[in-house]
Amino acid sequence: MGETPKTRLIITVDGPAGSGKTTTAKEIAARLGYRHLDSGALYRALTYALLKAGIRKSDWPRLTSDDLSGLGVRAEASVGVVDLYLGGALLGDELRTPEVTRDVAAVAKLRVVRIWLLDIQRNLGLHGSLVADGRDMGSVVFPDADLKVFLVASLEERARRRLLQDTGLHPTESEVVAEAARIHARDAIDSARELSPLRCPEGALEIDTTKLEFEEQVLAILTRVIDLTE
Ligand code: CDP
Repeated sequence: MGETPKTRLIITVDGPAGSGKTTTAKEIAARLGYRHLDSGALYRALTYALLKAGIRKSDWPRLTSDDLSGLGVRAEASVGVVDLYLGGALLGDELRTPEVTRDVAAVAKLRVVRIWLLDIQRNLGLHGSLVADGRDMGSVVFPDADLKVFLVASLEERARRRLLQDTGLHPTESEVVAEAARIHARDAIDSARELSPLRCPEGALEIDTTKLEFEEQVLAILTRVIDLTE
């Protein structure tokens, strides 16, 4: 007799910057009727709030959880998505400005930040039916996830995709080189940090998307989901 089919899965999609985690996770969630959690957006929301509050970068290592609560960042589960608010304002494009992207890895390596966000993320997964993407979804936040995916792609391809995504234009070679250097610097901080470093979680399905079409990577994951749910 086979294993009992699972329902309301928790699926994690981790990987380095520009590997396509968020677009892939969002698509998988939409096709399954699950909710999507972009955990990077949580780190970006705290970074945006710190910058907006004018708290100096040199003071960030001394932040307490009360300081973080006082910033007014909230995550609210909605239909298919997790909405992020600063005070009463729904956050969107402001989370992807170059300033936030430049500073987010420095915020994400703070212990107080990772602990503050842990319960928020786990609560969003309490009832399952969640596709969560980030750096430590399968390793730390949802270690018992039903399916763990780790996406990788060459640095150059990741830089190219990121520029195309941000500008809608095909980048020049020199733009790709400059973006690759920025991505590489952020990957280095994310991989070297003491807490929840970027790693392929044990037992994860690793997919190199460098030469894959988007639909191919989505189907590779959905095939695994079907194996678990039928
Ligand atoms: O979209 P991209 O891969 O460029 O980044 P993101 O997913 O928006 O994440 C932004 C930053 O948040 C990362 O570079 C990490 O420093 C941090 N992050 C993290 O530490 N842990 C996560 N689970 C998600 C993001």
